[in-house]
Amino acid sequence: MVDAHADWPLIQVIGLTKIYRVGVETIHALRGLDLSIGRNEMVAIMGSSGSGKSTLMNMLGCLDRPTGGSYLMNGRDVSKMDANELAQVRNEEIGFVFQSFELLPRQTALENVELPLIYARGGWRGRKQRALAALDRVGLLDRVEHRPNQLSGGQRQRVAIARAILNKPSILLADEPTGNLDSATTTEILALFRQLHLEGQTVIIVTHENEVAAHCQRVVRLRDGRVLSDLSIEQDIAGRHLPTTAASSSGAAPPC
Ligand SMILES: Nc1ncnc2c1ncn2[C@@H]1O[C@H](COP(=O)(O)OP(=O)(O)OP(=O)(O)O)[C@@H](O)[C@H]1O
Ligand SMILES: [Mg+2]
Repeated sequence: MVDAHADWPLIQVIGLTKIYRVGVETIHALRGLDLSIGRNEMVAIMGSSGSGKSTLMNMLGCLDRPTGGSYLMNGRDVSKMDANELAQVRNEEIGFVFQSFELLPRQTALENVELPLIYARGGWRGRKQRALAALDRVGLLDRVEHRPNQLSGGQRQRVAIARAILNKPSILLADEPTGNLDSATTTEILALFRQLHLEGQTVIIVTHENEVAAHCQRVVRLRDGRVLSDLSIEQDIAGRHLPTTAASSSGAAPPC
């Protein structure tokens, strides 16, 4: 993890823009988004399809560069880093969990979890022990030799979470991590995220489900590439019961 500069929020995004160009079309996916997230927060990012949630996650996870604005992580300006520095931040500070698990199909659970160590400083030293410790943390020690197609959806996502936390990232980003799971498995996976959060992990989860957001402390809703509302979970729940016109004019949470 990076040294914690107590004066700085973990994440500070100011005026972030992202423009995609596809052929002659220009898509403004983020339109000047401001967001600040502290260490050890557990935040849900919500908003309708196309509102910019995944684009934002890709920026926060340094998978892609913004078109404009700034992104400070622990006070360091990520938007000005070169490709090598970005790769280092990505490998050491960020854990990513996706809806579709993104596991290598021919590799065992253990081999999938070991993967980030290929790129990390210190390389493969003690890799097996570290990967086993991560699999233990997600409750999968009895499945280490299984390949993804020999695991349930929830177990696959646990493998992906073990891989994401292997390097003890500053930020754990999860883009619709329960989107492919049934409700019982969703509850299990959310309990795991909560446990990691209780142990000090900063967690940011994109979701369409109010039930998933209910496990977070704070709900940030996007609309058209900007922050529409940024509320505590209690305020967000209260806002959901307002009539739609009142909700949109007051900036409170709309249904999504
Ligand atoms: N790589 C890309 N190239 C071009 N346009 C893109 C790209 N990625 C996203 N977009 C566009 O940017 C906008 C925001 O997309 P984004 O994927 O961030 O939405 P989202 O809020 O995650 O939606 P969903 O809930 O459906 O996942 C959309 O209009 C989308 O079509
Ligand atoms: Mg998305």
